[in-house]
Amino acid sequence: MSLVFAINGQRFDLELSSVDPSTTLLEFLRYQTPFKSVKFSCGEGGCGACVVLLSKYDPVLQHVEDFTVSSCLTLFCSINHCSITTSEGLGNSRDGFHPVHKRLSGFHASQCGFCTPGMSVSLFSALLDADKSHSSELTVVEAEKAISGNLCRCTGYRPIVDACKSFASDIDIEDLGLNSFCRKGDKDFIKSLPRFNSEKRVCTFPEFLKDEIKSMNSGMYRWCSPESVEELQSLLVGYKANGNGVSMKLVAGNTSVGYYKDEREQSYDKYIDITRIPQLKEIREKQNGVEIGSVVSISKVIAALKEIRVSPGMFGKLATHMEKIAARFIRNLGSIGGNLVMAQRKQFPSDMATILLAAGAVVNIMSFPRGLEKLTLEEFLHGSPLEAHDLVVSFEIPFWHSETNSELLFETYRAAPRPNGNALAYLNAAFLAQVKDTAVVNCRLAFGAYGTKHAIRCKEIEDFLSGKVITDKVLYEAITLLGNVVVPEAGTSNPAYRSSLAPGFLFEFLHTLITHHTTDKPSNVYNLDPPKPLPMLSSSQHVPITNEYNPVGQPVTKAGASLQASGEAIYVDDIPSPTNCLYGAFIYSTKPFARIIGIHFKENLVPHGVVAVISCKDVPKGGKNVGMKTGLGSVRLFAEDFTINVGECIALVVADTQRHADAAANLAVVEYETKGLEPPILCVEDAVKKSSMFDIIPIFYPQQVGDTSKGMAAADHRILSSEMRLGSQYFFYMETQTALAVPDEDNSIVVYSSSQTPQYVHTSVATCLGIPENNVRVITRRVGGGFGGKAVMSMPVATACAVAANKLQRPVRTYVNRKTDMIMTGGRHPMKITFSVGFKSTGKITALELEILIDAGATLGFSTLMSSNIIGALKKYNWGALSFDIKLCKTNLLSRAIMRAPGDVQGTYIAEAIIENVASSLSLEVDTIRKINFHTYESLALFYKDSAGEPHEYTLSSMWDKVGASSNYDERVSMVREFNDSNMWTKRGISRLPIIYEVSMFATPGRVSVLSDGTIVVEVGGIELGQGIWTKVKQMTSYALGMLQCDGTEDLLEKIRVVQSDTLSMVQGNFTGSSTTSEGSCAAVRLCCETLVKRLKPLMERSGGPISWNKLISQAYAQSVNLSASDLYTPEEFPMRYLNYGVAVSEVEVDLVTGQTTVLQTDILYDCGKSLNPAVDLGQIEGSFVQGLGFFMLEEYITDSEGLVLTDSTWTYKIPTVDTIPRRFNVELLNSGCHEKRVLSSKASGEPPLLLAASVHCATRQAVKEARKQLCMWKGEDGSSSSTFQLPVPATMPVVKELCGVDIIESYLEWKLCANSKL
Ligand SMILES: Cc1cc2nc3c(=O)[nH]c(=O)nc-3n(C[C@H](O)[C@H](O)[C@H](O)COP(=O)(O)OP(=O)(O)OC[C@H]3O[C@@H](n4cnc5c(N)ncnc54)[C@H](O)[C@@H]3O)c2cc1C
Ligand code: FES
Ligand code: FES
Repeated sequence: MSLVFAINGQRFDLELSSVDPSTTLLEFLRYQTPFKSVKFSCGEGGCGACVVLLSKYDPVLQHVEDFTVSSCLTLFCSINHCSITTSEGLGNSRDGFHPVHKRLSGFHASQCGFCTPGMSVSLFSALLDADKSHSSELTVVEAEKAISGNLCRCTGYRPIVDACKSFASDIDIEDLGLNSFCRKGDKDFIKSLPRFNSEKRVCTFPEFLKDEIKSMNSGMYRWCSPESVEELQSLLVGYKANGNGVSMKLVAGNTSVGYYKDEREQSYDKYIDITRIPQLKEIREKQNGVEIGSVVSISKVIAALKEIRVSPGMFGKLATHMEKIAARFIRNLGSIGGNLVMAQRKQFPSDMATILLAAGAVVNIMSFPRGLEKLTLEEFLHGSPLEAHDLVVSFEIPFWHSETNSELLFETYRAAPRPNGNALAYLNAAFLAQVKDTAVVNCRLAFGAYGTKHAIRCKEIEDFLSGKVITDKVLYEAITLLGNVVVPEAGTSNPAYRSSLAPGFLFEFLHTLITHHTTDKPSNVYNLDPPKPLPMLSSSQHVPITNEYNPVGQPVTKAGASLQASGEAIYVDDIPSPTNCLYGAFIYSTKPFARIIGIHFKENLVPHGVVAVISCKDVPKGGKNVGMKTGLGSVRLFAEDFTINVGECIALVVADTQRHADAAANLAVVEYETKGLEPPILCVEDAVKKSSMFDIIPIFYPQQVGDTSKGMAAADHRILSSEMRLGSQYFFYMETQTALAVPDEDNSIVVYSSSQTPQYVHTSVATCLGIPENNVRVITRRVGGGFGGKAVMSMPVATACAVAANKLQRPVRTYVNRKTDMIMTGGRHPMKITFSVGFKSTGKITALELEILIDAGATLGFSTLMSSNIIGALKKYNWGALSFDIKLCKTNLLSRAIMRAPGDVQGTYIAEAIIENVASSLSLEVDTIRKINFHTYESLALFYKDSAGEPHEYTLSSMWDKVGASSNYDERVSMVREFNDSNMWTKRGISRLPIIYEVSMFATPGRVSVLSDGTIVVEVGGIELGQGIWTKVKQMTSYALGMLQCDGTEDLLEKIRVVQSDTLSMVQGNFTGSSTTSEGSCAAVRLCCETLVKRLKPLMERSGGPISWNKLISQAYAQSVNLSASDLYTPEEFPMRYLNYGVAVSEVEVDLVTGQTTVLQTDILYDCGKSLNPAVDLGQIEGSFVQGLGFFMLEEYITDSEGLVLTDSTWTYKIPTVDTIPRRFNVELLNSGCHEKRVLSSKASGEPPLLLAASVHCATRQAVKEARKQLCMWKGEDGSSSSTFQLPVPATMPVVKELCGVDIIESYLEWKLCANSKL
């Protein structure tokens, strides 16, 4: 039997028996077709990088159905008779890009571009849906939702959302952000946008496939697709009768393997695809309810429920809740039955189970020998786990009718890190109640996902409430009872928080009942409305555009953006595997400090496909076991006799496919022994006790300022030895670490590496293999996001592949899976800070003393840079005098890497936390304390000796006032106050803060060559990570060659191509980081261009009149003028440093019931000097701000007691999504004028704006303070303690709620009951 399907209109026909049924669609696309736009990033349905459009044809209805799916979870065999469209299938560089690609590119919506093909397909699908529905066009609401399940780590989402919204029929064009189509206010704006023309629509289902479908049959191989319940029944009976030892799996959407990842490795003897059985796909509205076939996708269930007109309130609410389950591309594939079977069999924390439990659903099951059975959902969930051959046929949700004079109330709730879904709930709930006036006649109360085996009904509380008039007392008693029922199982994270949500939701539900039914309505302040949808996103951008150095300074569209959108841009893993290629997967240590006795595989069986296990023994003679080598030292590649931290690389398993290598690494067993060894050092305190420190190179150790003992003596008040801690953050680049090493002639090797430091990868490989550096070539074209994570860790990944390739004399590549990447890569440096601060009664700080213990992990890496960075950012205020003792602790924890704004972000936080403490202790406004402690230029020059610049360059004070005015800061402070006075269950906070960020310029090489047709090729040391370096370099080349002023130089931009970095072609590439590589690379190409101009000028003059560029170049070729120039830019002074300034105002709203923080508005003013490209810089500012938002508010980095990272997946590690960014996001770039020492007076934008996200954290603290004040009042406690607290980082929902009071509902009711009793 054949598997026949189409991809991008191309026919594929494969013998089914030749296919391993556990193969995913993504594996097939990436490894067996040229369609590489489909990216692998998480492999668990959590990111959207792999989204494709799947189209099915119904020959009876002659109807094509199109929907997105995550190809990493879709089983390849399930696409029989389907058509797949990928981003390159929508359009491409040869056939023309699709309007979706053009708009994403024109709205500057891609940076590294790794997420962009998935975004393109998601957006295209939303357009297609709108187009097909005929009744409506895409609306702004739908447009915003189109990419709600797709992750992007670079852009901060705003430009992507704008690109989506630009297609909406109800868009107000003034709401669209900076783009390359037209400027704001332009009448023809809409006309200039590339149209999505449904007439010329991409054909998602080719005609030939429609014709073939009618004549196709299913067959009996390992994969089979029965077409009736009877056929399925006979298969299942057969299986049950003869099934001893035969494994079998029913497959619907297969999305469950996103959660149960072990199942992916499992291979079954038989896969039974149940999605083609009409009876299981039906949705029938019957007299008493609606019956839904078990394989109906969640998306279809939602659509159907929205149409039901009986008890519409309930069905509408069920549908709205279901829209928060996973992402659209999972709901399109995942079935209702699959969800409930996961909940029943494996105790999955399902939303579906909870809400259907409250709705009174029943389940129809077909089991053997019992036959067809009908069970209540409760019986189903609590029964013994379904067996493999038990089939869920359908679910029935009854219609509920209210009795005379009574009313039915139904509500569902969930608290999750992302308000619009794509995150499991901490707790979910659904309540159905029949009420008469203020009395509950009867009710169903369901709770789930809080660390319980199954969703539960709270019968005891249902009984208690039935027949009762709802009063505060009744509510209080019900809530007290609830406290004994909703108790998470041992080992569940945040148990107190989860338990506290249940009273909150029940209160919300029943409280509404009182307020709805009493004529004597309580004042608004007591009212707790049901959750509101998030406000729509809006934004504004003010960017100065200058023509002085045209095209430098213009918002030129990013080089290669359309290629990124169509998915044709090539990343390391997209390079086709050379013949004979092998694949590697890392075996890492799970012990912090232990002797390695040996490595073997489980059951001592070498797993399928394994070729070798490469370890330190395989480092060739003459080489060294070195995986990372820089000017700051070297780090070993493989552990030798001992491991020094959890996550350390022990070996690389090499196999015939990446999947086999990954599976084998999972089956590897490392034997350890710890007898006789010192206990590992697992915290900074232990490191101090044992004097386990790294030396900080003196030039990197910052200088103290003034005399703190005098400053302390001059203070009116002191806060002494106050402590705080900061944790880590993971990079979460969308492309994980990857490399391909290919052995070449004469003992040389070519390595393709996704690296920010190819020069160091080069040195590391040469050192490890013991070969001369000219035998190594490292090539990096582009990197799918780095953020510092591909500076250090890319080296051992590439070196390990090189060692394996050298040993086996075959190409070896690896694409590190997300979990391994998260466990091995390290992240930001955690630290413990102790501070003492002295200050006057006015708030003027006189001295600050700090002790900072930085956890550097087991090896030094670039950690030596941390101390100067921390202090660099902390010095933004005039502390009077500043002293510190910074220790770089050597522990047996994961070695830390330098993540975007390393140290600076912590320095900013420390400064703000101290300012907040001072303000609290004086009961003064924080904003006042900040302002009082601003630097004058004189104090700035004292604190930042060699980087303060000229007085006129110190723009911060004026920026502070400017953003104050543009954001209406003072007015909004009063509004926030009023809001807090009149709202009990939500509190707001607003905060304005400044940043200062010191950057250094480095030596950077470049080469510019002109080819005979006048086109230009440029090489630079800097790597394109998404930060727009190629675009800026192109602009600079065009500007600098434009100095020739011959005909045609104005169009040079189109003739320039920046090519991949090759370490043998461009030496001294150094590293890409510290925000200044773009400037340095621009400076280098400018020098090259000046040389070329010098060489071409005489020729031009000899031509005697105007000459065109092309002619000039032809003549230069004819006269053998050297048209290739290379140079190394070296800053005039060393160190060449300058300061970056920014101010942000953020306003947040905190929901006291759930702890959810919504960022209502952020206004940023950032000094970009003379921006080289305002569109690129704007993207850097927004993107880094949102990454900072992740650090401060969302990204919980949890390890076990030995340092093993537990938040190792998209399920547990939550980076910002489109629903967590500021609802209103205003960004303005300040053009701060000329400075001859900076590159065309520009400034850096890559890292500094990340620090501005601290404004969200500070605003949250303000809101929490208000909540605590209120709680103190309810509890009758002295309110002074309410303002002295630390808000930890990240301020996640549990953290915020715990500070606002987990017992907030109980306290409120007690207070009210007490107040009532006094009346
Ligand atoms: C990234 C992601 C996020 C998610 N977030 C949420 C969330 O927030 N809330 C929530 O409730 N859910 C969530 N889910 C779960 C999701 O709803 C389920 O994965 C999906 O509904 C399962 O359906 P499926 O058709 O893919 O099942 P499959 O994976 O095909 O099947 C699941 C299991 O059920 C068995 N099975 C399937 N159908 C039947 C049947 N009819 N009879 C008997 N056995 C059957 C299969 O053999 C398998 O063992 C999430 C899933 C993902 C991947
Ligand atoms: S790779 Fe498929 S959703 Fe992330
Ligand atoms: S552009 Fe979205 S992840 Fe890089």
